[in-house]
Amino acid sequence: MSQLQDNFGRRFHYLRMSVTDVCNFKCTYCLPDGYKPEGKPKFLALHEIENLISAFAEVGTEKIRITGGEPTLRKDFTDIVRIAADNDKINTIATTTNGYRLEQHAKEWYDAGLRRINVSVDSLDPKMFYQITGENKFDSVMRGIDAALEAGFERVKINAVLLKGMNDQDLPRFLHWIKHTPIDLRFIELMETGLGREYFQAHHLAGMDIKQQLEQDGWQFDQPSASDGPAQNFSHEDYKGRIGLIMPYAKNFCASCNRLRVSAKGKLHLCLFTENGVDLRDLLQDASQRPELIERLHGQLNQKKETHYLHQGITGVTQHLASIGG
Ligand code: GTP
Ligand code: 5AD
Ligand code: SF4
Repeated sequence: MSQLQDNFGRRFHYLRMSVTDVCNFKCTYCLPDGYKPEGKPKFLALHEIENLISAFAEVGTEKIRITGGEPTLRKDFTDIVRIAADNDKINTIATTTNGYRLEQHAKEWYDAGLRRINVSVDSLDPKMFYQITGENKFDSVMRGIDAALEAGFERVKINAVLLKGMNDQDLPRFLHWIKHTPIDLRFIELMETGLGREYFQAHHLAGMDIKQQLEQDGWQFDQPSASDGPAQNFSHEDYKGRIGLIMPYAKNFCASCNRLRVSAKGKLHLCLFTENGVDLRDLLQDASQRPELIERLHGQLNQKKETHYLHQGITGVTQHLASIGG
């Protein structure tokens, strides 16, 4: 079966699969009022997840990142990892988490086949962490990161959204942390969302300023490989950790797009900032529907746009990133 490719020659080996919209944190840049369900949400069931993964694997997907909301709030999170691990075409299983359940479960998830974990830590000042996330969980999240490193995860990445007036004085603390800790720290430019327009005006910071500072301080740019994500990565001989910058407002950011997204309710999103998304759920009910599902995926990919339109303040239908997993 031919691989997923769009009209701009981009190939898609990487699926970001959201498994829930629910989140227990209230990050000011994402869900400031917390999670508010629309009716009774019906998220993808295990058999739908299995059919989804099997179809994507057949058209070239090698890496699955389980996202949310907070994906680990699902009681069957470990079963989801196992389903992905049982597919022999999938070679990397990852998740992005707020770290809330990491301390207790890192080893269990690793044993089920999870190999990469990205944890949001927007500030190393516990008070600011609380101010941003609405949860007093700084110490527990940090212990969770230690547990993940001990459990043997290949990569532990830390996500910090750059926020003017909130964590913009934190760089020295972050640098101190990664001097002796082998993690990949990534600074992410705040993106505008439908619900976050005013917040964006007040708090957006350009990642380029950090880039200049890193270069002045002797950080070296690492050449990207084809399978890399959107971060520009830097390393330094005096530091065990690395730094990545995710700058969606930078020129050509989308040229290397290698990922597709499926929402927790089974809609295919060709871009993080897209139109409504296309329902796949009717074709996730039985393995015999796979050829039809694959045909739908190929058909949709012809419609993927070259880039997002964030530069023009156009956020598509994306009200917040919890709905399609960032
Ligand atoms: P890996 O390369 O697998 O580590 O993936 P990643 O860095 O993309 O994973 P993660 O879930 O940690 O992504 C961090 C954040 O980067 C996301 O929550 C988004 O805010 C942003 N991001 C990731 N992918 C994209 C993308 O394709 N487009 C845009 N605009 N932002 C993205
Ligand atoms: N801008 C940038 N990143 C965001 N995230 C959520 N909302 C935004 C936004 N508006 C990212 C954070 C978090 C991940 C789950 O989603 O990086 O780590
Ligand atoms: Fe891909 Fe859209 Fe992200 Fe650009 S913004 S890299 S097209 S998902």
